[in-house]
Amino acid sequence: MSQTATWGKSEAPNPSSGFFRDLIAGLQALPKTVSPKYFYDDAGSALFDEICNLPEYYPTRKESDLLARHGASIAAHIGPDVDIIEFGAGSVIKIRHLFETLDRPRRFTPIDISGAHLHASAAILRADYPGIEIRPIIADFTQPLALPIRDDARRVGFFPGSSIGNFTPAEALAFLTRLTGVLRGGGLLIAVDLIKDPAILHAAYNDSAGVTARFNLNLLARANRELGADFNLDGFAHYAFYHPVLNRIEMHLISRYAQKVHLGDVTIAFSEGESVHTECSYKYSVAGFQALAQAAGFTPAQVWHDGWMSVHWLELPG
Ligand SMILES: C[S@@+](CC[C@H](N)C(=O)[O-])C[C@H]1O[C@@H](n2cnc3c(N)ncnc32)[C@H](O)[C@@H]1O
Repeated sequence: MSQTATWGKSEAPNPSSGFFRDLIAGLQALPKTVSPKYFYDDAGSALFDEICNLPEYYPTRKESDLLARHGASIAAHIGPDVDIIEFGAGSVIKIRHLFETLDRPRRFTPIDISGAHLHASAAILRADYPGIEIRPIIADFTQPLALPIRDDARRVGFFPGSSIGNFTPAEALAFLTRLTGVLRGGGLLIAVDLIKDPAILHAAYNDSAGVTARFNLNLLARANRELGADFNLDGFAHYAFYHPVLNRIEMHLISRYAQKVHLGDVTIAFSEGESVHTECSYKYSVAGFQALAQAAGFTPAQVWHDGWMSVHWLELPG
């Protein structure tokens, strides 16, 4: 038997419909800010995959190492016959570690806002794991959505990539609290990047090959492609730094000179040196993240970490 678990209200929104509206609102605000979710069209997803292979970008390697090294222990905590829901699934690479070690995983529901990339990635995964029902959902996980899950299944959330760090701590608390309603009786396996030497963090977002810069600028390129905007990409510079008081990387696009950009009928003025804040990536201590998860209603049951990255198993009573 199947049921639909409601995430907020029951309507699934079109994930790309808000780009034009949100971009204009964000660029008319002071300071200018755009959600990082808009990085991810086909080109953005491909650039993120490139970032994952950069020597400076340790998070993907460290997290995959933890998932591989502690696979048996992770599987013992998660248990058999589970339905897995992945939030921000991207190229659905890391779930393979769980498929290899879990006891009879039944159904996998990867959710991502980057639709074509998700469907192509899920098709490859399906061919490799024909025994697991794989049903991708194109959606914005910050918005209300309906999740198809079996009512007799143990539900497990998977949130890798330290994507939780893109939320402010208050937003992360609200997101995790919403998850407790969906995952009751199961739990959440979540990867969280750790506070560390600021030089290492700085390098991870300022790679020498310039891929992160292209990823950041893809936001403007995407607005040109999809919305007919006239951003001159050479007129903006990638700028990323670690803020040690707020424990977060901030990523910005800096206008190199005073300029005007057109989006439909709207003209946006940029002064010389003006920033568009495009991403935050919060870093946590193990204890700090466990306290956040507990405040949301989870029980932190186990954590695997190596001083760089952490993977938490958070349980929920039935
Ligand atoms: C940092 S990447 C992580 C990808 C993959 N999970 C990993 O660990 O390598 C973030 C992923 O989340 C997706 N994403 C970002 N914001 C989203 C949102 N609001 N709703 C759904 N997917 C989102 C992006 O398209 C991207 O694939």
